[in-house]
Amino acid sequence: MHEGDNLEVIRRLPDASFTLIYLDPPFNTGRPQERSIETARSRHPSPAASSDARAGSLSVREQRVDETMGGSHGLGDPVSSRGVGGADRARGTRGADAAGVVRRGFHGREYERIRGDLRAYDDRFDDYWGFLEPRLLEAWRLLADDGTLYLHLDYREAHYAKVLMDALVGRERFLNELIWAYDYGAKTRKRWPTKHDTILVYVKDPKAYWFDSDAVDREPYMAPGLVTPEKAERGKLPTDVWWHTIVPTTGREKTGYPTQKPEGILRRIVQASSRPGDRVLDFFAGSGTTGAVASALGRDAVLVDHNPEAIAVMRERMPHARVLPAP
Ligand SMILES: C[S@@+](CC[C@H](N)C(=O)[O-])C[C@H]1O[C@@H](n2cnc3c(N)ncnc32)[C@H](O)[C@@H]1O
Repeated sequence: MHEGDNLEVIRRLPDASFTLIYLDPPFNTGRPQERSIETARSRHPSPAASSDARAGSLSVREQRVDETMGGSHGLGDPVSSRGVGGADRARGTRGADAAGVVRRGFHGREYERIRGDLRAYDDRFDDYWGFLEPRLLEAWRLLADDGTLYLHLDYREAHYAKVLMDALVGRERFLNELIWAYDYGAKTRKRWPTKHDTILVYVKDPKAYWFDSDAVDREPYMAPGLVTPEKAERGKLPTDVWWHTIVPTTGREKTGYPTQKPEGILRRIVQASSRPGDRVLDFFAGSGTTGAVASALGRDAVLVDHNPEAIAVMRERMPHARVLPAP
């Protein structure tokens, strides 16, 4: 477990050393109530930031009800993705050169064209991607030849991110779009209440990636009467739509970390895309769900977070883990 800025930490890790990388970055929500966004504003008082705030105020009230109740997604993220893009973009260029693994990506004309189009369309997303891109390039470098990258996003980022990831690493490496659907808390009456997250899945090598569906916990059939009793007893393989409760507000799993994801979601990911003894990386670790699940399943996990509160929660959750200072 490392405490520090993830880009600094992961740059020092060796190429192709992780079978599974799961990333749950802070979302680009534009919600004004967060401490982190205030910090970003005061540090980066750009015209773009203030027009974001104005534009955001139209829909924020409605979103806040939904998200506060609907899940822990992004709430209380200690850092805003906004405003950090510039410096990281410059570093990201070096990251891509060093990695040398992104096929058409980054300097590729196609990627630049797509990114330019998106920038013109939504500069908020551009800032977010400016933060994420160098980290994704490092993640790609760190991924083993049979490795898989899971990128956990919400509906505001997922579609732009899909297009950019396809251009960055190659569309043929896209494996799945997982939908995690939950149903909890207040529901707006002004639109369909948003109660899902999206997890994009990419593999380093579409011909040689590790995927073991037999190792995955099965789920009950929706209509068990339509299958044989043996099948009903065994349960069915999950599809790409996962109905799963958010972390229950009471109970063993709850750590109190605001953006904590359920172990059940991570368990499937770890079971399917890694073997016992494999190395798993999560450099937006938060409460350490990936680490807790991975170590219970006999994998070695490397976790990074720059928030001391996250490190404290992880220490308690995984007393056996070593904590290393920022490099
Ligand atoms: C959405 S939370 C992850 C929650 C996690 N999946 C869980 O189950 O608890 C994102 C985390 O990324 C961390 N983070 C954001 N930017 C970071 C950076 N540049 N370096 C390290 N950690 C960062 C935040 O502190 C936060 O804990």
